[in-house]
Amino acid sequence: MKNNVALSNIIANQEIHKKYGGVLPEAASRMHIINIVPVVQEALEKANINLNQLSAIAYTQSPGLIGSLLVGVHFAKGLAQSLQLPSIAVNHLQAHALSNLLNNDAPAFPFIVLTVSGGHTQLILCRSAVDLEVLGQTKDDAAGEAFDKTGKLLGLPYPAGPMMDKLSKEGNPKAFQFSIAKMEDLDFSFSGIKTSVLYFLQKQIKINPSFISENLPDLCASIQHCIVEALLQKLEKAVEIYGIKNVCIAGGVSANNALRTRFETLGAKHQWKTFIPAFQYCTDNAAMIGLVAYYKFLNKQFADWNTIPSARATI
Ligand code: KG4
Ligand code: ZN
Repeated sequence: MKNNVALSNIIANQEIHKKYGGVLPEAASRMHIINIVPVVQEALEKANINLNQLSAIAYTQSPGLIGSLLVGVHFAKGLAQSLQLPSIAVNHLQAHALSNLLNNDAPAFPFIVLTVSGGHTQLILCRSAVDLEVLGQTKDDAAGEAFDKTGKLLGLPYPAGPMMDKLSKEGNPKAFQFSIAKMEDLDFSFSGIKTSVLYFLQKQIKINPSFISENLPDLCASIQHCIVEALLQKLEKAVEIYGIKNVCIAGGVSANNALRTRFETLGAKHQWKTFIPAFQYCTDNAAMIGLVAYYKFLNKQFADWNTIPSARATI
């Protein structure tokens, strides 16, 4: 990062997860050990800077898979100590929530952001880069998990979200109806949709064993429609309650074309100022971690050498 601009954003290949149909934690942390040095080297080369030009070393401290976090935290601390630089611990969810600040046209504070990823679904009010309040969140599965788990039932490879998005383009979103739990306030629940899809498929396959292959685009479009509408209903409610018209979406699921389009339509209807991250900043990326680090650097929020990673932590 140079101030709030990303000079490079290198991501290691995630192909290994496809082989297991999900993330196998031990395999993920072993891949981190193999990839971390080449990724840092490539990031420096691409940014055209050397280690002596750095001001601080940032790392993701929480939440996440503990084995993978451990690799990053210890590598970063070691590098910072050897260069005699401060280190900065970053919360992954704060990074997703602020990722729209990487856009050329960035939102002004305060803004409301709907963060939708494979592990989290949150509505957050951002008063400043370091003052975030969670307004609501999922009580069980995340929106990305709902895509991945229902996609798995349809026989799609992990992560199923991008493929469901693609197949949905050819499908009818109203072809089938799946139920989603109605939650109180600004909270979400996505675990019910996979059961609803499972029972529906079991029933249909008994009648027609080729039901899935004959209806794949319609199934994808209908599931996607159900998830997207549930997300936007709560976002609309949050904006109405808080009266803040700078509105963002972020996280892996914000790469979803239906969500992006429906969000823009809703924004135009209510005269919101809408913000969507560039595709490379939707799914997990290094630039958003660097961005939070930049703001923490300005606020002198440096990490202690005793800071340890945490698998579970909210903002
Ligand atoms: O933010 P992210 O990269 O990782 C986490 O922090 O979890 O999000 C990954 C999630 C996966 O569940 C993936 O299926 C979903 O984002 N995803 C999508 C799309 N691209 C990624 N879901 C729906 N449509 C997409 N185009
Ligand atoms: Zn993420």
